[in-house]
Amino acid sequence: MAKHDKIIIGNSTILNPVPVVMVSCAGKDPSKDSERPNIVTIAWAGTVNSEPPMVSISVRKSRHSYNLIKETGEFVINLVNKSLAKSCDYCGVRSGADEDKFKTCGLTAVKAEGLEYAYAIKEAPVSVSCKVKQVLELGSHDMFIAEIVAVTADSYLKDEEGKLCLDKAKLISYNHGEYFTLGEKLGFFGYSVASDEVFEKRMGYKKERDKYKHIREEKAAGKNGKKY
Ligand SMILES: Cc1cc2nc3c(=O)[nH]c(=O)nc-3n(C[C@H](O)[C@H](O)[C@H](O)COP(=O)(O)O)c2cc1C
Repeated sequence: MAKHDKIIIGNSTILNPVPVVMVSCAGKDPSKDSERPNIVTIAWAGTVNSEPPMVSISVRKSRHSYNLIKETGEFVINLVNKSLAKSCDYCGVRSGADEDKFKTCGLTAVKAEGLEYAYAIKEAPVSVSCKVKQVLELGSHDMFIAEIVAVTADSYLKDEEGKLCLDKAKLISYNHGEYFTLGEKLGFFGYSVASDEVFEKRMGYKKERDKYKHIREEKAAGKNGKKY
């Protein structure tokens, strides 16, 4: 079979990689065990609008967090870095109905910026405060569509000019059931058409006008054994 000959896989949620986030929430009375600050791991999350900035998370009704988010209409999306990866997995396999996951994971619940009830994870590099605008019942999951009301970030993520450098956060992603750190930087928005100057400034090396020219030339001369 040639590389691009197709096999049929069937219909499944194959879109990958996806972000994996730690969503924190709480009930209206956090002194009660059933309403204490909680963390749920969510892979079905995404940006859905730019102005106003909006996101969605899809949550099964059976999750303890589902009721907390439904009751308050608030949640926080905490971005996950390498140091939080293990806690992120843990919060996705244990329920807040049975234990205080903040405590088990040694994490700190802090009141979320711009929200009344939800808590953020202090140790997360970036926390996104969200207010629910709509709930869509899709089948297995309900999708909470929410507006971003505030974003907080660790101060080390800002450079001297005040620019947010998210690459410093060492965020992780989720690919087909496995967690990965991000790899090599391949380019930036518009790099395929960027000027030589902009390309060099952003990438730190010169643009190769035709990266594969020498391979084609070698192939044409019958020298190249590599398959692409
Ligand atoms: C990597 C990963 C991704 C997950 N994504 C989702 C998701 O998108 N939606 C969902 O309802 N549950 C998802 N889960 C499962 C919940 O996080 C899990 O059932 C959790 O224990 C529920 O916690 P809670 O009962 O305290 O709310 C995921 C779990 C893992 C490990």
